[in-house]
Amino acid sequence: MFTILTGAQFGDEGKGKIIDLLAENYDIVVRFQGGDNAGHTVVVEGKKYKLHLIPSGAIFGRRLLIGPGVVLNPRVLWSEIQALESEGIKLDLGIDAKTSIIMPYHIELDGLREKARTEKIGTTNRGIGFAYVDKIAREEVQMEDLTDPALLEAKLKEIGPAKEKAIADLGGDPTVVRFAPFIDEYLEIGKRLKNKVTDVSSEINIALIEEKSVLAEGAQGAFLDVIHGTQKFVTSSFTTAGSACANLGVGPVMVDNVVGVVKAYITRVGEGPMPTELKGELGEKMREKGAEYGTTTGRPRRCGWFDAVLALKSVYLNGYTELALTKLDVLTGLDPIKICVGYDLDGECIGYPPESTLRLARCRPLYEDMPGWTEEISAALAYEDLPENAQAYVERLEDLMGVEISAVSVGPGREQTIYREEPEE
Ligand code: GDP
Ligand code: IMO
Ligand code: MG
Repeated sequence: MFTILTGAQFGDEGKGKIIDLLAENYDIVVRFQGGDNAGHTVVVEGKKYKLHLIPSGAIFGRRLLIGPGVVLNPRVLWSEIQALESEGIKLDLGIDAKTSIIMPYHIELDGLREKARTEKIGTTNRGIGFAYVDKIAREEVQMEDLTDPALLEAKLKEIGPAKEKAIADLGGDPTVVRFAPFIDEYLEIGKRLKNKVTDVSSEINIALIEEKSVLAEGAQGAFLDVIHGTQKFVTSSFTTAGSACANLGVGPVMVDNVVGVVKAYITRVGEGPMPTELKGELGEKMREKGAEYGTTTGRPRRCGWFDAVLALKSVYLNGYTELALTKLDVLTGLDPIKICVGYDLDGECIGYPPESTLRLARCRPLYEDMPGWTEEISAALAYEDLPENAQAYVERLEDLMGVEISAVSVGPGREQTIYREEPEE
C-alpha cells in the first residue's frame, strides 16, 4: 500500500501528528521534498518531538527514508539523530545518494538575498531556495559526495568560484564557500552517515512489490508549492501529492491513498496573501489558544478563519481521497465560527481562487456563520461525544471540500484523535 500525505493549506496543519498515528500501520515512512524549513511536531505521552528532517514515523520505530527530492542540511540531520537517540529512540534511517546537500553558502545567500529584497518573502533562512537552484542548475553537492573527500573537493573546485562571486555580489563574505572549517565537519558527518546511503526509489518499489506499506510524508502545504502556490510567497519545492511520485521515483499507478491534513482554521508564517487573516484580537486569541508559533523559527503564525475557497483548490491540486481535520479544539468558545465560502474580487463574487497572486491579494472573504460551542472537546473519544455544533461544523467543511473527513484531531496527543466510521452506503 502506498499512501501520500500532504498539507492542504500553508503548512503547519499538524502533519507530524497525523503521520505519527498512521505510521503504526506502515513499514516505511519517507520524506519526499523540502528540508529543515519543515518543523513537524509529534507528541507522545506528553513528550514533544520536533522533527525537521527525520520522518515523523520515527517514534513508532519504522524504516525511515529521506528521498532525493529533499534538500538536506547535514548538521541539522546529525543533531536530530543524536537528540532522538539520546531519548532512547532507535533509528533505522536511509538517505538517498542523490539527496542535495544544503551548504553554508546556500544559507548565506538565502539571508543576503532576503535582506536585499524590498518586498520580503519571509523565508526560514535555511538555504532552501538556493539549494534547489543548484539542483536545477546541476551544481549541487549530493549526499554521496559527502562520503568521499575527493568527490567533494572536485565539486567545490568546479562550482566554488561562482558561489563566491554570488555572495560577494550581495555584499557577503565569500570565504564561507571553500576554505571554512565546515568542509571537515561535513566530511566527518558524511563518514558517519555512509552506511545509511541508499537508493530510495529502489527500496520503495521493492517494498511495494513485497506488499509492504509505504507512507510518503509531505512538508509545507499546497499554497507554498513553487508552481501552484501563492508565488512568489512560496517555498522552493513541489509540495502537492503528485510530486511524491516524481521525487521518490515511484509510478503514479502505485498510489492507493492521498491524505490531506487540514486545520480547522488557517495559519500562515511569512509573507503573502491570506484572505481570511484576522489581524485583531480574535486572531491573537486563536494564536494563543492554538500555540501558533513556528516550530522551526518561533515566529508568530498569522491566523484566520477556515478558507473553503482555498481548501477546494487544495483538493483539486492533491486529489485527496480522505482528510484529517486538526485543531478543532482551538475553536471552542468562539461564536459564531465563520467559514469563508467565496471571495469578493473587485465587486465580483467568485467561488474559486483567482489564478494570480496579485488578484488573490485583492480578494475579500465572504463568510457563512456557523454556531459555536462552549464545551471542552479535547477529551472527546468518539465523534458522538462532540457537541452538535462541532459535528455540524465538521460536516459543513466536508460538504464544502467534497472529501470525507476520516479523522478529527482535538489536541496534540496521539489519544486526542477521533476516527469516524465509514459512511453507510
Ligand atoms: P506540521 O508542520 O504540519 O507537522 O505542524 P506543526 O507541528 O508545525 O504545528 C502543529 C502544532 O499543533 C503542533 O504543535 C502540534 O503538536 C499541534 N497540534 C496538532 N494537532 C492538534 C490538535 O488537534 N489540537 C491542538 N490544540 N494542537 C494540535
Ligand atoms: P511545515 O512542513 C509553514 C514558509 C516560510 C516562508 C516560505 C519560504 O512545518 O509545514 P523557505 O525557507 O522554505 O524558502 O520559506 O515558506 N515555510 C513554511 N511555513 N510550515 C512550513 O513547513 C514551512 N516551510 C517553509 O515561512 O513563508
Ligand atoms: Mg510545521
